[in-house]
Amino acid sequence: MASTVVSVNNLTKKFPAPGSGEEFTVLDSISLDVEAGNFASIVGPSGCGKSTLLNIIAGIETHESGSLKVFPKAGTSNSAAHIGYVFQSPRLLNWLTVKDNIQFALEAQNIPRERWHELVTKYLEMVGLGGQERNYPLNLSGGMQQRVAITRALAIEPDVLLMDEPFSHLDEITARKMRLDLMEILQRAKTTILFVTHDLREAVFLSDQIYMMNTKPARIFKRVRIDVPRPRKPEDPRLFDLEKDLVREFFSELEAQGYK
Ligand SMILES: Nc1ncnc2c1ncn2[C@@H]1O[C@H](COP(=O)(O)OP(=O)(O)O)[C@@H](O)[C@H]1O
Ligand SMILES: [Mg+2]
Repeated sequence: MASTVVSVNNLTKKFPAPGSGEEFTVLDSISLDVEAGNFASIVGPSGCGKSTLLNIIAGIETHESGSLKVFPKAGTSNSAAHIGYVFQSPRLLNWLTVKDNIQFALEAQNIPRERWHELVTKYLEMVGLGGQERNYPLNLSGGMQQRVAITRALAIEPDVLLMDEPFSHLDEITARKMRLDLMEILQRAKTTILFVTHDLREAVFLSDQIYMMNTKPARIFKRVRIDVPRPRKPEDPRLFDLEKDLVREFFSELEAQGYK
């Protein structure tokens, strides 16, 4: 039976409105679940609150009401869940080598030093960066830097990997290759993912489950399962048809909300 890794219930978040003493509601009664081993995506327009939601799940942003829980993997002795996070930009420490960047994260998660070498080697190999241990981030292309960021997040063997529009800063050819590679990597690493994007095509291609979010305030207005079997091809007409239907639904939802 599938177990739940992330459970968010009726979560509401407010921010102070700029220039007034008032608050505005960013996230309104958000509920979602991510099952172990699943790839779940949240899709919504820019500025709707996707990054805010991931930050709340990562524990680096507060919320007003509702609850959330991230469960540690069954069979581990960890009392708190390990959460991996990949941001839009790689956010590497440019004065440290690739290996030291990854070890920095391992140390922060209290992973025993005797496992560092094995973990760095295994996950660099998995993302296609074997042999880059001693290189520095600024010698790498944008795509390779983002692969280091993915390695850093995978190497802590997270209970859930949060990804915030991780390919949106890359050119489309690099992004496409990264999406294909990500699918393969995740099948090997068996990681549970919560992925955020404003790109429906990307979400349909990658996901088992999509949560569609509207805006101001953001609510989840639809939850869709993508049952197209894996491995998937980006040009699969079934994916294209799903994308077309979902784009249509998005427009009518946002129009009904008066979105401009
Ligand atoms: N720290 C903050 N203080 C006040 N407002 C914020 C803060 N962070 C984000 N916001 C506002 O919350 C809304 C959602 O932002 P964000 O989560 O970054 O959206 P998304 O990631 O979907 O583009 C935006 O209107 C943004 O201006
Ligand atoms: Mg964002």
